[in-house]
Amino acid sequence: MNLILIGFMGTGKTTIGRKAAKGLRFKFTDTDKEIEQVCGMTITQIFKKCGEVRFRSEEKAAIKRVTQESNQVIATGGGVVLDPENIEMLKGNGIIICLTAPPDVIFQRISQNKSRPLLRTEDPLGTITKMLQERQPLYQCADFTVETSARDSDDVTAEVVRRFRERLEELHR
Ligand code: S3P
Repeated sequence: MNLILIGFMGTGKTTIGRKAAKGLRFKFTDTDKEIEQVCGMTITQIFKKCGEVRFRSEEKAAIKRVTQESNQVIATGGGVVLDPENIEMLKGNGIIICLTAPPDVIFQRISQNKSRPLLRTEDPLGTITKMLQERQPLYQCADFTVETSARDSDDVTAEVVRRFRERLEELHR
C-alpha cells in the first residue's frame, strides 16, 4: 500500500509527505521531482518549452511508474486529479489523502515561490480561487481530507499518518 497525498498547490504535500514517510519508514516519492528528472528540465521549463499538454502526459507516465511500487508516500502535483485514469492508478494500491487550505492561505504560502507556472498571472489570488473552485469536485476522490491551515506541519503529519494506519487496519480486518 502507498499513502498518496493530493491537493491544491501550496497545501503542503511535499513537506507533509516527507515527514509522513519518515514516520512510516516508507520511501518518499514526489511526482514533480520524478518528472523533472526524466525530462531534465524544471517544471517551469517544461511548461514554457513544451506546454501543459506535454507536462500532463509526463505526469501520467510518472504516475504509472511510481504506482508499480509499494510502501511509499507519494506527493502528487495539484493537477493530478484532472485525469481520471491517474486517480484510478493511484487508488489501485494506495490510500488517498487530500490536503486542503483556503485561497488566502495558499496565496500566502506560494507568494514567494515562482516555480508554479499556472499561478504566474496578474491576479494570483483570483486564479487560485477560481482553480480551487473548478477542482474542488475532483479532490473528492480522496479517502480522507485533512485541513492544513492554522496548524503546524507536525500536527498535520500526525493526523495523516494516523488516518492512513487506521484505514490500513480496516482493510486488513
Ligand atoms: C500543478 C501543480 C504543481 C505542478 C505543476 C502543475 C497544478 O505541483 O505539478 O505546476 O496543475 O496544480 P504542486 O501542487 O506540487 O505545486
